[in-house]
Amino acid sequence: MKITNLTVLAIIGSFGLILAGCGEEEGPIQPPPPAPPEYADKHMPAGWWADEKIIAEGKEIFEGVKNIDVNCSSCHGKDGKPVKAGARDFRKTERMKLYSDSVWFWRISEGVPNTKMKSWKSKLPEEDRWKAMAYERNFGLKGMGYDVARKEWVPLTELGKPAPAAASATDGATPAASDSKAAAAPAKNAPKKNGK
Ligand code: HEC
Repeated sequence: MKITNLTVLAIIGSFGLILAGCGEEEGPIQPPPPAPPEYADKHMPAGWWADEKIIAEGKEIFEGVKNIDVNCSSCHGKDGKPVKAGARDFRKTERMKLYSDSVWFWRISEGVPNTKMKSWKSKLPEEDRWKAMAYERNFGLKGMGYDVARKEWVPLTELGKPAPAAASATDGATPAASDSKAAAAPAKNAPKKNGK
């Protein structure tokens, strides 16, 4: 009988561990809400995604070197691995690529209600918020920048260039495009993500 009770306890115990383990996951990836109108037109200053000096300044802000009262890494981790429960994991490319530069900037500026992520606009001037973002994006989107016209993250070498012709046809976003010559064009220029 004793053994049976112990076995039951062991099973309950390990079940609890499994549940606790699940709690650490962020769950299915949800896109963030759109930026409110006052932030929707704010974008990374031209050239900053690729500017190593800006990124280095962003690192100092992120790590609390520039201002001890602003230490993003105290929750988000120096290497982007969260050190406080619930802090956004910037290493997760699949999630972070759903954030436009405007949404990202809005969240840094205003915080996320009912979470430990507070508003930083009183402590960080706009420029410093962009710098922190330029650094932060390296954890999951290194070598990429947000292309405002294309509304997606693209390699820095493609920033500001027109989308490959095949992209609109394969997106399915514009059904009319499937009739156009673009659809018939060879897939040579198709984005890599479609080839995966
Ligand atoms: C006290 C802990 C803490 C500090 C310090 C902190 N954050 Fe956060 N941050 C969080 C948490 C928790 C979340 C997740 C909020 C949520 O659940 O959406 C978050 C989320 C975010 C997000 C994503 C928002 C979203 O909608 O998913 C960004 C961007 C961000 N933080 C940037 C920063 C920057 C930049 C700094 C420094 C200026 C900073 N954080 C400092 C705790 C913190």
